Amino acid sequence: MKTLQSLLEANRAWSGRMQREDPQFFSRLAQQQQPQYLWIGCSDSRVPANQIVGMLPGELFVHRNVANVVVHSDLNCLSVLQYAIDVLGIRHVIVCGHYGCGGVQAALNKRDIGLINNWLLHVRDVYHRHREFVDRAADESTAIDRLCELNVIEQVRNVARTTVVEHAWQRGATLTIHGWIYSIRDGIIRDLGVSTAGNAEVEGNFEQALGRLSRG
Ligand code: CO
Repeated sequence: MKTLQSLLEANRAWSGRMQREDPQFFSRLAQQQQPQYLWIGCSDSRVPANQIVGMLPGELFVHRNVANVVVHSDLNCLSVLQYAIDVLGIRHVIVCGHYGCGGVQAALNKRDIGLINNWLLHVRDVYHRHREFVDRAADESTAIDRLCELNVIEQVRNVARTTVVEHAWQRGATLTIHGWIYSIRDGIIRDLGVSTAGNAEVEGNFEQALGRLSRG
């Protein structure tokens, strides 16, 4: 276990390394940020957003919560979304879930882990909507992975239905919402093929993605 002092030492070493590689790196970033992508992912320590897509500070705007859930009344997530789209002009929103997600597993098993069970009811709702497909899985880990994928697809639709995204599309902004899933076993991200670039595509893409999943 690292001590807090060792974290600060690691930070100094990292800062020194960055400045040796690119002496203007921090002064350039201090002027402004121009990230191209918004990442909505899980808080899981095994899914560090920047690292797994090879991005430096300044390149990825990030919102993470347990089980990468986008709730229409979550002011925190909505504010990140609105700032990313309206102020930073981000054109790609990526919802990235991951297989073996503990939050999804707890939602499926109804395991009592305290207050967070209430948050995970949003994932439990996803399970109830697709119960037949999830329950058909051969074993528990397949069921969890199915629900992880379904959860991403549902959250992409949730992002697309926010007033923030609807308004952006109404004013003709170029904006695509993507659904990805990361494997903690091999570090590979899979595109779930649900990318949506306009109001008219939301429901069709959602149904197609669900159809592909259920056909295997
Ligand atoms: Co997770």
